[in-house]
Amino acid sequence: MITIRRKKGLILAHSTDDASVTRRDFIYVASGTMAALGAAAAVWPLIDQMNPSADTLALKEIEVDLASIVPGQQITVEWRKKPVFIRRRTPDEIKQAEETPLDELKDPQADSARVQKPEWLIVVAICTHLGCIPSKDMKGEYGGWLCPCHGSQYDTSGRIRKGPAPNNLAVPAYKFLSDTKVQIG
Ligand code: FES
Repeated sequence: MITIRRKKGLILAHSTDDASVTRRDFIYVASGTMAALGAAAAVWPLIDQMNPSADTLALKEIEVDLASIVPGQQITVEWRKKPVFIRRRTPDEIKQAEETPLDELKDPQADSARVQKPEWLIVVAICTHLGCIPSKDMKGEYGGWLCPCHGSQYDTSGRIRKGPAPNNLAVPAYKFLSDTKVQIG
């Protein structure tokens, strides 16, 4: 079940039951607008990113309320017209990410270099192969995300582990404003 609430001009969205989340439950957070898209395998419109509109510029930074996300859940927010996954990782997911030897990685990067707080993983949800949106419903063999377009698989740190994608999911600039609020951008 997805809960939406308004606070200080923002629309805050979260899933209260991860098992109920479907492909249609991509929730986009923007100031004043919201859209739910069934876009698990959609190719992100890269052309749009090359020509930022006034809207895009207006969303240079977004604030996201994390208070209702429990371990194991994730939400998708929109930032600069790109989807961003915010996952509250479980202790097992954190352990798996931290203990993966770097020499097993195609794009070696320590988990500690990709998160500010181990519990929270924040990544741009655009596959580094050809720009599809990885499925939030298919975790693949490494517990992260599977991109349905050509089978790239990411781990619980958003690092590429299998398939044609060359790089890890990008980590956007962000900072925690409090224990339960993060600013992306
Ligand atoms: S676009 Fe994701 S695997 Fe090709």
